[in-house]
Amino acid sequence: EIPFSGGTPLPIPPLLKNTSSIPNKAEFQLSAQIAKKEFIEGKETDTYGYNGNYLGPVIRVRKGDEVSIKVKNNLKEETTVHWHGLEVDGENDGGPHSRIMPGETWNPKFTINQPASTLWFHPHLIHKTGEQVYKGLAGLFYVDDDVSDNLNLPNEYGVNDIPLVIQDKKLDANGRFEYKLGMHDVMMGLQGGTILVNGAVNPYLEVPKGKMRFRLLNGSNARIYELLFSNNQSFYQIASDGGLLEQPVGMTKLVISPGERAEIIVDFSEFKDGDTVELTNQGTEFMKFMVTDKKQKDFITPNQLAKIVKIDPSKALKTREFIFQGMGINVNINGKQMDMDRIDEYMDINTTEIWEISNESTGMMGGMAHPFHAHGIQFQILDRDGSQPPANESGWKDTLLVYPGEKVRAIATFKYPGIFMYHCHILEHEDAGMMGQYKVE
Ligand code: C2O
Ligand code: CU
Repeated sequence: EIPFSGGTPLPIPPLLKNTSSIPNKAEFQLSAQIAKKEFIEGKETDTYGYNGNYLGPVIRVRKGDEVSIKVKNNLKEETTVHWHGLEVDGENDGGPHSRIMPGETWNPKFTINQPASTLWFHPHLIHKTGEQVYKGLAGLFYVDDDVSDNLNLPNEYGVNDIPLVIQDKKLDANGRFEYKLGMHDVMMGLQGGTILVNGAVNPYLEVPKGKMRFRLLNGSNARIYELLFSNNQSFYQIASDGGLLEQPVGMTKLVISPGERAEIIVDFSEFKDGDTVELTNQGTEFMKFMVTDKKQKDFITPNQLAKIVKIDPSKALKTREFIFQGMGINVNINGKQMDMDRIDEYMDINTTEIWEISNESTGMMGGMAHPFHAHGIQFQILDRDGSQPPANESGWKDTLLVYPGEKVRAIATFKYPGIFMYHCHILEHEDAGMMGQYKVE
């Protein structure tokens, strides 16, 4: 474990160039590649990255865009690229069936038909998701629309709208990491003592005395964070996984589990030049903000963000149950472990269903929380153990943290055909079989 210093400037991933000159069409090139990186100065480790040596560029598209992405596999092993949170058909979703052999290119095409949001992409190879993500394959995928444009939110990429990809690693004294699982890692998921933001250990960011927007992704294999500022600074959450909330939600602490995203607005206007404040996980600092006297335009956080039409539960054709069970290598859903040749659930296209996700898993200390994720759809949470979801979970969600003994009910409409995965987003659990397949036809 490296003590926190906050001495490394926060890297901002580049925006990926759209190579199409036709309006409403977007074309991108991604390369999954083998690389090396120094997490600690002067100490190199083997990594993977998209178009670079660790993580990937940010893909930015607009609602209505026709998107084509050429993904070249320059690794020495198979991979896939899954668009987490994207509403898309099964063929283009990039799940474990969409394998890309070394040297080959996969070319998914889809039209963006969902609201402004912060999505992401990462590999999804069967039994290998954990390792390939851990080595560095992950990137953000932004969707813009007229609603987000017209809200006067900070939206200058890298200036007042900053991505924060939070991950933890087990770095050894030589600054190296390796994907090796001990028994504890298989059970609880791989957790490391060093927290990285955008691939940097000990990052700092200079911020003006004003409002900043941060787009947080928990890109960790297994760690659930409780984020709070060292001064207990309050902030507003404005978006959840699948888009803007209806209203900003004031808070001082944000819980974010693997796969989840949250957009927050933090106001640094009360600070003096040179003041610093740290972002912490349960009080342990991992990122520093340094307030400067740089001027920026003022933003008023709007009271009304997006309009979210509530899906009417009486429209649901069916209620389906998903039960997380087991521990260690026996983790499963509904008593079954992932089988590539078995479809677990069938449903009709354009129907609405309620999914009830229960956590009956056992574990080291009497069970653990599992983040449930389903591909190709965005949910609305109906209730947690019969109670209204918290305000910051009342928008679109694709990853739902389910605590031990809890039951979460969520509703979704299945608009695209194909085969999709649902699974625990603790990647070691996913790889160990806590995953199933549903088919929309
Ligand atoms: Cu973030 Cu099935 O994935
Ligand atoms: Cu799990």
